[in-house]
Amino acid sequence: MRNICFILIALLLPMNVLANNNLRYGIIPRPAQLVELPGSFTLNKKTVVAVDLDNALFKEIADDFILQFKIVSGHDLKIINTSLLPTSNFIELKTTEGLADEAYQLIISPDKITIKASKANGAFYALQTIYQLLPPEICGKQIAKRVKWEVPCCEIQDAPHFSYRGLMLDVGRHFMPKDFILKLIDVMSMHKQNMFHWHLTEDQGWRIEIKKYPRLTEIGSFRKESEIGKTGKGDGIPHGGFYTQEEVKEIVEYARKRYVTIIPEIELPGHATAAIASYPHLACIEDTTYEVSTTWGIKKDVFCPKATTFQFFEDVFTELFDLFPSPYYHIGGDECPRDRWKACEHCQDLIKILGLKNEDELQIFFVARMEKFLREKGGKTVLGWDEIIDGGAVPNTVVMAYRGHARAIRAARQNQYTILTPNRWCYLDYYQEDPDTEELCMFLFLPLEKVYNYYPIPDTLEHSQHKYFLGHQGSLWTEYISNPDRAEYMMFPRAIAMSEVSWCSKEQKNWDSFRHKMLKEFSRLDYKEINYSKAFYNVIFNYDRKEPFPKKVALTIDYPEADIYYTLNGKEPTMKSTLYTDSILVNEGDVIKTVGFLKNGKTVGKRLEKKFEIKNDVNH
Ligand code: ACM
Ligand code: ZN
Repeated sequence: MRNICFILIALLLPMNVLANNNLRYGIIPRPAQLVELPGSFTLNKKTVVAVDLDNALFKEIADDFILQFKIVSGHDLKIINTSLLPTSNFIELKTTEGLADEAYQLIISPDKITIKASKANGAFYALQTIYQLLPPEICGKQIAKRVKWEVPCCEIQDAPHFSYRGLMLDVGRHFMPKDFILKLIDVMSMHKQNMFHWHLTEDQGWRIEIKKYPRLTEIGSFRKESEIGKTGKGDGIPHGGFYTQEEVKEIVEYARKRYVTIIPEIELPGHATAAIASYPHLACIEDTTYEVSTTWGIKKDVFCPKATTFQFFEDVFTELFDLFPSPYYHIGGDECPRDRWKACEHCQDLIKILGLKNEDELQIFFVARMEKFLREKGGKTVLGWDEIIDGGAVPNTVVMAYRGHARAIRAARQNQYTILTPNRWCYLDYYQEDPDTEELCMFLFLPLEKVYNYYPIPDTLEHSQHKYFLGHQGSLWTEYISNPDRAEYMMFPRAIAMSEVSWCSKEQKNWDSFRHKMLKEFSRLDYKEINYSKAFYNVIFNYDRKEPFPKKVALTIDYPEADIYYTLNGKEPTMKSTLYTDSILVNEGDVIKTVGFLKNGKTVGKRLEKKFEIKNDVNH
């Protein structure tokens, strides 16, 4: 009843009041139900944290909170057993039967905070919500002076809409240091994202130590140089790096404490060059001149499906079983050209012996064989890029759809699970500012609002098949991203929007509410020292590059309550220029100058100037 009352009140309120409420709460991803209440709970040095001390996981979560609070406040909160509750000024973590995996309830009143969860992951998420309700200084790394540690009162019931809420990082193209991986896991967990898909092997680099095959890292983790952008030219600078097994253990343990599962991806049968350069016998042609790739793109040298290759993968995965407890293992499966298999005597014989139709079926055989091993020997469920459903399904595999929705729908209709990362909505290496002027990115324009408004399950899919959609993932490929700073810039804030896409139902999401919350979120990201993109503050030019001139251009800005002013006469826009209200018809050669203004006359973001030209439209 209370919830219904809140919804009714919310509908009657003008938008700016809602906006302020969003800042008072500002939780991302948006909780399933939040009842706003007056007043607040204030943490001070006398606040105690009560937990069932016999429950090691709940205690670990409480300890971590106490540690972080000490870092920013200097107060060392006492931890006590729940049986010794004081009358007020406490935070209680209560183990409660009956709540779903990852679900939690949170009741904040002026004298106490009560967290209820059945599983530790739910308790962990309740604390992430409390972090977001506290002032952003809670995310800092040092004492924050003159901060009142207030938590606004409310009642929250929360649980995710999707069980798989992921982010992928490609460290094959560019190696990223351990500390960056830890930072990423930390920010993911803050937003209740629970699956870190670690793309560890590529043509351009093998990034994980395998004790039985030392050349994978001695040879395979380094390349002579890298291609500069899309030029085909090399930069002459050696690039390399890999994670030792000790480092991997540290990362996996760090992730465990944050309820993030690390899914290793070992690519097969394609994207194999670095492995083949290390061990040429894994290829169809046992040549000793293979080199780790120095250019981007799809390579023809792939793994040959022979006994020694299967032995290799079984050995590699056996070592990984000791490192990655994840129930999901990713085996790639994408972009495997058939050229070498077509010319290989062994491959052609195998096709005949197995009675296969062609090389496409040979790929299915390869993947199915690895799936069987991973399931039988490791108890793993295999994920693969959506090629693994081309030409017939491999039983028990989960299809990671990246080329639109058709293969995800096909998977669901044949009762196979799927995870959605379709490039147009989920590839974080795409542009987030105007592709005509932003530093080189991959093909398309993917602004924050488009990321946010994506919903993984197509309307056309029968309701009974929805359960096969496990969730959704943002994917960052790193051909053009050579360092953590740039990776952060490309990921954030879009990955934050994604956390809401995968946590919330379609009905729960609200772009306008989300962009208001981003103002508080940016402050949290500042304390986390994240180098996020500032595209949020700038005017966006929305138009169809394929439409002939004159064409319609719509201007939008993510920053809430900013008005857009523009000129077409070359003058700098002011609040006396044209206020943008409807799309503008532009001719070839027209220049729009524009910027967002707040009501107080201050500008937000960059002053932009854009010339509309056919040559740019053709290039993108
Ligand atoms: C992919 O983008 N090749 C998975
Ligand atoms: Zn072969």
